[in-house]
Amino acid sequence: MSISTVMVVGAGQMGGGIAQVMAAAGRKVYLSDLDAAAVNKRIEFIDSILTKDEAKGRITADEKAATLGRLVPVTDLAAAAECDLVVEAVAELMDVKTAVFRELDQLAPERCILASNTSSLPITSIAAVTNRPQKVIGMHFMNPVPVMKLVELIRGLATSEHTYQAVKAEAEALGKTSVEVRDVPGFVSNRVLQMLINEAIFCVYEGVASVEDVDTVMKLGMNHPMGPLTLADFIGLDTVLNIMEVLYEGFADSKYRPCPLLRQYVQAGWLGKKSGRGFYQYS
Ligand SMILES: NC(=O)c1ccc[n+]([C@@H]2O[C@H](COP(=O)([O-])OP(=O)(O)OC[C@H]3O[C@@H](n4cnc5c(N)ncnc54)[C@H](O)[C@@H]3O)[C@@H](O)[C@H]2O)c1
Repeated sequence: MSISTVMVVGAGQMGGGIAQVMAAAGRKVYLSDLDAAAVNKRIEFIDSILTKDEAKGRITADEKAATLGRLVPVTDLAAAAECDLVVEAVAELMDVKTAVFRELDQLAPERCILASNTSSLPITSIAAVTNRPQKVIGMHFMNPVPVMKLVELIRGLATSEHTYQAVKAEAEALGKTSVEVRDVPGFVSNRVLQMLINEAIFCVYEGVASVEDVDTVMKLGMNHPMGPLTLADFIGLDTVLNIMEVLYEGFADSKYRPCPLLRQYVQAGWLGKKSGRGFYQYS
């Protein structure tokens, strides 16, 4: 199956990155967000990243112009009617995602594959709200998408082999390495990573060590490129909390309970880098 026209739904940090790599790989990309300002801001951000890449000699001026020329900002889902593949990257909330999938299912042609970039939600449940569960799959990119090599591919119960192979080939065409993961809460990446982050937050909550010292332990002691609390700020503390809730409910196991301090930060609107304050302050 050839994939030439795609839509990315949600122009946040993940949707922007996915749109960028797909446009760079030659796809025409509709980047959709409810918020017109968000989608325009995201395209300006991609422009600034490509300008840096050009200055460093990683891409030519022509390649930059071609990538930007293939990105089309939109504020609804109507252009799904032209697409071979749609990747959804809206908030990590089941009701928000299912509303998007219901609408996409009405608009997209029969051939179109509907993929979710969900970090933890069940693909089988998302697929079940459509009339094409065989064409629904999890395509979980890592942040920042242009840099990180991995994509987790998650088959829902009804996902067809054809859909899986088409999306695997697309991941490879984007220069990514894919792994196949069963449809269980958090898949592999977030089942392991969010437990580490949540435990780091508990260390701060219980006064075991400061934010900086917890991060230093993991950086200098375990050779992690960044500390778990810095990483949590980058991911977004609302996203971290949403994923912990999915793990906690999905496994019905208290070992996945979100740290109360994480919940409190989200209640305060301290969402990490994107809101200017999380475990650290950002100007
Ligand atoms: N942040 C990460 O590190 C990371 C990594 C991998 C996967 N994910 C997953 O990617 C998804 C998006 O995460 P993010 O960090 O980019 O979030 P974000 O908050 O940065 O962006 C979400 C965007 O979706 C838009 N949106 C919300 N509802 C919409 C709708 N109905 N239609 C169109 N646009 C809508 C919002 O306006 C916002 O711009 C989530 O499912 C998250 O779990 C996140």
